Amino acid sequence: MVNNQIDPSFWKGKRVFVTGHTGFKGSWLSVWLHNLGANLTGFSLAPDTQPSLFSEIEKDLSMTSIIGDIRNLEALKEAMTRANPEIIFHMAAQPLVRYSYDHPLETFQTNIIGTANLLEICRSLKELKSVVVITTDKVYENEEWVWAYREPDALGGYDPYSSSKACAEIVTSAMKRSFFSSPTSACIATVLAGNVIGGGDWALDRIVPDVVRAFQKSEVVSLRNPQAIRPWQHVLEPLSGYLTLAQKICTGERDIFGSAWNFGPDSQNAVPVEKLVSLLAEHWPGVRWQVDQGQHPHEAFYLKLESSKAKHYLEWVPRWGIEKTAHMTMDWYRGYYKKESSAFGLCTSQINEYVRNKNYVTS
Ligand SMILES: NC(=O)c1ccc[n+]([C@@H]2O[C@H](COP(=O)([O-])OP(=O)(O)OC[C@H]3O[C@@H](n4cnc5c(N)ncnc54)[C@H](O)[C@@H]3O)[C@@H](O)[C@H]2O)c1
Repeated sequence: MVNNQIDPSFWKGKRVFVTGHTGFKGSWLSVWLHNLGANLTGFSLAPDTQPSLFSEIEKDLSMTSIIGDIRNLEALKEAMTRANPEIIFHMAAQPLVRYSYDHPLETFQTNIIGTANLLEICRSLKELKSVVVITTDKVYENEEWVWAYREPDALGGYDPYSSSKACAEIVTSAMKRSFFSSPTSACIATVLAGNVIGGGDWALDRIVPDVVRAFQKSEVVSLRNPQAIRPWQHVLEPLSGYLTLAQKICTGERDIFGSAWNFGPDSQNAVPVEKLVSLLAEHWPGVRWQVDQGQHPHEAFYLKLESSKAKHYLEWVPRWGIEKTAHMTMDWYRGYYKKESSAFGLCTSQINEYVRNKNYVTS
């Protein structure tokens, strides 16, 4: 089998339910699943950025898009029961660390109760085969050491966001052991990716959208933690892992695949924020940045992910190194702002390039 192989014949006509489809990763996943011919339903809050990737691509997508709140058990149940999915990707979350300091309860309710609601409803879905719950690299108790975190490492989380996602891991594990242990029940996995970048993200308080907004207004970008090291990866890297895993779950051994999976980049992609910004600037000359000297809430300094398990069992490997990732990201935004193609067209052509770029890291 070719590494990272996503089999179009497997996905054609599959009933797939995506929560968080109006977000950055959910929009890219929806384009990919649409192109694979899946029968797609999404459930999320309305997009909350301007512009928003989902609003840009919606007209080109063949999917049932439901606007609703995962904290509302009845609304979620109605949507999931009607869609009767075979595969679920659960991405809906409050995903921002700094926002979570201002809104801890909303973060806990969305990320913990929302996940519990989804899994509770899964118990009654008779044709469900595979559930992929998206958490984050921040679920690990961060020891601020140079080593990369592995799936058996301790869960933790300093801030409300990280701890809410660690709780989502524990809730998922408990629901799985309590209600999904028979060989005929759905198989549930959790997936942990690094800091995902790519075109079409306009969220607040994320480095690439901050840089793009500053570029657009010819402003200087303020960097809060220029030396902080993050495992940067293009959005298509973890998405290819999620698709590969869901496919394997439906066709393989549930004992292996129904577990936690890191999908991080190779170690050369774990670079300081300042290095990433300098790489982005190579593709959009004129960018300037400065260090923001203000007081900021705690954020982890070192964070690296070890993905040997995914490489071994799923034959998943990262394909794009840090330079290529920066290049593809800025190419997308340039194409969008210069109206070279629609947002849907830009996503599709990058997905096609990613799929062609078989099994090695290209810089
Ligand atoms: N972007 C990253 O670098 C990154 C890294 C690791 C993990 N993740 C995880 O990936 C997932 C997607 O993140 P993203 O970057 O696309 O974030 P995003 O903010 O762009 O999207 C979040 C999505 O969740 C939906 N949502 C939020 N609260 C909801 C609620 N109460 N009910 C229904 N829908 C709700 C939003 O409407 C949106 O569709 C999240 O679970 C996030 O924690 C993201």
